Amino acid sequence: MEDTFVTSVLDLYQKGDWKNIVETYNKYPGRNKLLWVFPSEENFVFIRKTLKMLSCDRVLSIGCGSGLLEWMIFKATDIPVSGIEVDGTWWKCKYAPPTFIDLFITSPELDKDKTTIRVLTNCNKTAILFCYFNDGVAFKSYLKYFSGTVLIIIGPNKEGVHTSPKPFGDVSEEWTLYASQEVRDSSDFIAIYCKSDK
Ligand SMILES: C[S@@+](CC[C@H](N)C(=O)[O-])C[C@H]1O[C@@H](n2cnc3c(N)ncnc32)[C@H](O)[C@@H]1O
Repeated sequence: MEDTFVTSVLDLYQKGDWKNIVETYNKYPGRNKLLWVFPSEENFVFIRKTLKMLSCDRVLSIGCGSGLLEWMIFKATDIPVSGIEVDGTWWKCKYAPPTFIDLFITSPELDKDKTTIRVLTNCNKTAILFCYFNDGVAFKSYLKYFSGTVLIIIGPNKEGVHTSPKPFGDVSEEWTLYASQEVRDSSDFIAIYCKSDK
């Protein structure tokens, strides 16, 4: 079944059928092999409309994993999404899951990675996205260099599942919650923040 899942998602990916992917697999137990959150069509509309209101025309996803979410956001919203991953060894090894976008591989020591810093400091009109990210120290470090004003956090708002940052309560006071929406009835939330001048 596990192999069927990956093969089937790849098949739907090749056909560009993101709707079928999210409808078929949003509750599939082994889904996090490729992605932790399978948003609904309504969720993608929410992302598109909110980013449009905030004048964002790109998304930069940190810790994008396979890039399946990033590919689906692009297909569903027409907003280009690029992805950064830290674990180059894993993503290039033969046991790794397939990838759905080109991964930009970064160093675990962001302060020493001039290329990633250059990307982050050129983010006018770009939203930065963290989906089920799991390193609160690195999160703060990315935000230190990020020059944009829109932050998207997708993650669980429930007991027993840990991410860092969580969608609510993990940002500094310069970020104000602009809009949020639950992913189906999963207790996962998409939280979109704007940077204020505080
Ligand atoms: C729980 S996974 C979530 C992957 C994907 N966003 C998803 O929702 O399926 C967290 C990802 O963050 C990546 N990650 C952790 N620290 C990172 C860092 N400092 N820079 C970039 N990616 C990082 C990990 O390699 C991993 O792929």
